[in-house]
Amino acid sequence: MYLCLAKYMGWGRAFALAHRARICTPQPSGPTLHPLISAQLIPSAMRDKISLASGYGNFAVPAVAAEAAIRSISSGTLPVSDAAGLPALREALAQGYQRPITATQVVVTPGAKSALFALFKTLLRPQEEVLLPTPNWFGFGELITRAGGRVCPLPLSSESNYALTPAQLEAALTPQTRILLLSNPNNPTGRVYTRQEMQALLDVTRRFPELYVVSDEIYHLITFGAEPVPSLLDFEDPHERHVVVNGYSKSLALIGWGVGYLVAPAAVAAACAAWQFATSVAVPAPNQLAALAATQAASAIAAELLAQLQPTRARMLAELAALPHVPHGQPEGTYYAFPDFRAYLTPHLPAAAAAAELVASFQEAGVQVVDGSSCGPPGFVRLSYAVPEETLREAMHRIALVLQARQLASDLGC
Ligand SMILES: Cc1ncc(COP(=O)(O)O)c(C=O)c1O
Repeated sequence: MYLCLAKYMGWGRAFALAHRARICTPQPSGPTLHPLISAQLIPSAMRDKISLASGYGNFAVPAVAAEAAIRSISSGTLPVSDAAGLPALREALAQGYQRPITATQVVVTPGAKSALFALFKTLLRPQEEVLLPTPNWFGFGELITRAGGRVCPLPLSSESNYALTPAQLEAALTPQTRILLLSNPNNPTGRVYTRQEMQALLDVTRRFPELYVVSDEIYHLITFGAEPVPSLLDFEDPHERHVVVNGYSKSLALIGWGVGYLVAPAAVAAACAAWQFATSVAVPAPNQLAALAATQAASAIAAELLAQLQPTRARMLAELAALPHVPHGQPEGTYYAFPDFRAYLTPHLPAAAAAAELVASFQEAGVQVVDGSSCGPPGFVRLSYAVPEETLREAMHRIALVLQARQLASDLGC
């Protein structure tokens, strides 16, 4: 331990710290030496803020999309979009799926969040249940409850790489379950559900003809596996109950442009479009034309994002591997890692409080992360590697120091 500390702070300070630590008074609430140690370990120069918490990457706007938007703005009169979106964009999106989809099934929305909310408002009757395998994106819960539904978490285990077996799914479905909600690739774990896994789950859901299956595929092109991420729309939909939500702010780098969409059976799509007409606005035409250009150039844009992410992904995985007692798996998709820091939680605190305290100690060292409790499991943390490599290196260095400080405090019983 002192060897590690000495590496960062020198032997003299490490021994002085150890000596000071030894004379501290043990506190019933846990290792309250942490602030003292972290104050010693983390120089004030390191306290400027770095965020690995953002859900949005550091990607440049694709030139083809920017040019399309500029052209439309410069052309004088903007086209007035239908509430459900410009026909050309709806058509292009429909054409992008393997199975036959028509433009009437596509609704363009102000971001994926709006697509989800329109969908939940349309499908959920009061207090109906949405089965949500967890960990999952923290935004789903609020969207569901604000739409009048209830979230039923289905906890999955990191030990099995978040596998969702048909038996687990079947046991969790009840007559009150209206929607099964998946995200693939999963935010925050980066887990990609394969074609075989999806098929096995859909073999279960087909036995529940009233159940809707909703797949949020907003990270679908950000995958480092050998196979493309399967879309729910690649599979047979025996009861017309499959819905996909997607958007442009992740895989296609249109961050802040507010373009998302849903693809649903025609009647559901029409009801969602009616909701949007009544409560919101069509996405502005320049943004839709930018999205159309991005759709047409999707493979090239995604290839560029993946090339940009490769080095930071490799660095993130290497840095995590160097942290003792932090299992982290190999996330295949998204630009997140979801490591397990449970070994560093303060004992005797309730799990959520201990997780919040850990996250606060990272924050104190100037690193913002997402507390895994917001996605399901306390003690895990979501870290984005869609940041410059130097920023990531510095953030992981600080995290390592905080863990060393916590380990030292724990070893010393303070
Ligand atoms: C899984 C998932 N769905 C939807 C959204 C919202 O996307 P948008 O920015 O298009 O509203 C996010 C944003 O973080 C997300 O992670």
